[in-house]
Amino acid sequence: MSKEKPRAIVLAAGKGERMKSERPKVLLPVLGRPVLSYVLESAWDAGIGEIVLVVGHRADEVRREIGERCRYVVQEGRKGTGDAVARCRDAFRGFEGDVLVLCGDAPLVSSAAMRGMLALRERTGAACVLFTACLEDPRGYGRVIRDKETGRFVKMAEEADATDQERYVFESNSGAYCFRAPDLFEALAKVKPDNRKGEYYLTEVPRVLGEGGKLVETLRAQDPAEIFGINTRRDLVAVTNFLRWKILERHMDAGVTVVDPSTTLIESGVEIGADTIIEPFTILRQGTKVGLGCHVGPFSHLRGGVSLEDGAEIGNFVEVKNSRVGRGSKAKHLAYLGDAELGAGVNIGAGTITANYDGRTKHRTVLEDGVQTGSNTVLVAPLTMGRGARTGAGAVVPRGRVEAGTLVVGVPARALERKKRT
Ligand code: UD1
Ligand code: CA
Repeated sequence: MSKEKPRAIVLAAGKGERMKSERPKVLLPVLGRPVLSYVLESAWDAGIGEIVLVVGHRADEVRREIGERCRYVVQEGRKGTGDAVARCRDAFRGFEGDVLVLCGDAPLVSSAAMRGMLALRERTGAACVLFTACLEDPRGYGRVIRDKETGRFVKMAEEADATDQERYVFESNSGAYCFRAPDLFEALAKVKPDNRKGEYYLTEVPRVLGEGGKLVETLRAQDPAEIFGINTRRDLVAVTNFLRWKILERHMDAGVTVVDPSTTLIESGVEIGADTIIEPFTILRQGTKVGLGCHVGPFSHLRGGVSLEDGAEIGNFVEVKNSRVGRGSKAKHLAYLGDAELGAGVNIGAGTITANYDGRTKHRTVLEDGVQTGSNTVLVAPLTMGRGARTGAGAVVPRGRVEAGTLVVGVPARALERKKRT
């Protein structure tokens, strides 16, 4: 008989009071993606078959954003993490395999850690594996209390309920666990809300299992940051910074020069070719593609849907959105390129703007190979400039077409007629 694929429960019903946000906190963006999406991606990466997402606060919003790849369970009343998991009982009826329980607000738990928990549970036959880390500042986390003699897990002490002595324990609960499903639901039924918050704590389950003679194992995070949870706006920054550096390191390892990583923001889902140089104060948003040997920055902003082909150069105070910049094309100073299609060898003069929005709709600008725009050109879209066409300084080029090889000047720009010699 083949073994059942492990499943996961992801907790995302909380309101996130400490965020002071109208939006559910699991949907707040971190480097261009909702916090929750990191947890889901890592779980799928770890080979999880089905994810049951527990939603409550603004459940519809979460469901709309995350989509139907997950199964949803609605928790009304939010009586604690234990209650949230208990709501999944029906969804797991007849399932005897492993279940990971993950917090939707802890996006740094890696797929490697998830696989590690599953492997450790299988190898030891434990009823539960806890994922923990020793934090320099464990405030706000549940503390892992061990037996002084044997070092074995005894219980978890939540911050609100911990004694002063327990607060000095640095080993903290990540909120990620691996259980044998039947053990989880059996022990959950014995958890009572007898704590200062009057909530059903999931953290009581390992204690109940241990006291019932079952084996509880722990897995320590290699990098303590992996267990960071997001409860406040400050936590959001800490997590963003951690992920930001991971992304920067990955690009540097792949041959990209990032001159000043501390002032460079590269969101997740960005591709950059080797030998590209990214200068300081530059932002590359999700979905940006940069080819080989490009030069970007300083002070450039590449927004969604941008593709720079090999050798392209984007410089000081240039914003590019939803545009393709062909091979070796350049926009080096003070420009906005939106919904534009640039061929190869195009040169965008300082101050050139694509006027892509007429107040109702966005329109495209097509600049064929070798087009050159003079300083302070306004290109009113929809507009096509044929191969090698040029504009003079200050030209406002009306919508339509500029024929190949023509020079247009003025406001509105017209083809410059050569004066006949008399
Ligand atoms: C929880 C753990 C704590 C751990 C920390 C790690 C408990 C009691 N405490 O504390 O030991 O160190 O996570 O980050 O489990 N949620 C629901 N329904 C509820 C309550 C919460 O779905 O009724 C969800 C929240 O949306 C959140 C997650 O569960 O995604 C954790 O809840 P939160 O209130 O943030 O718990 P912590 O206080 O961080
Ligand atoms: Ca939390």
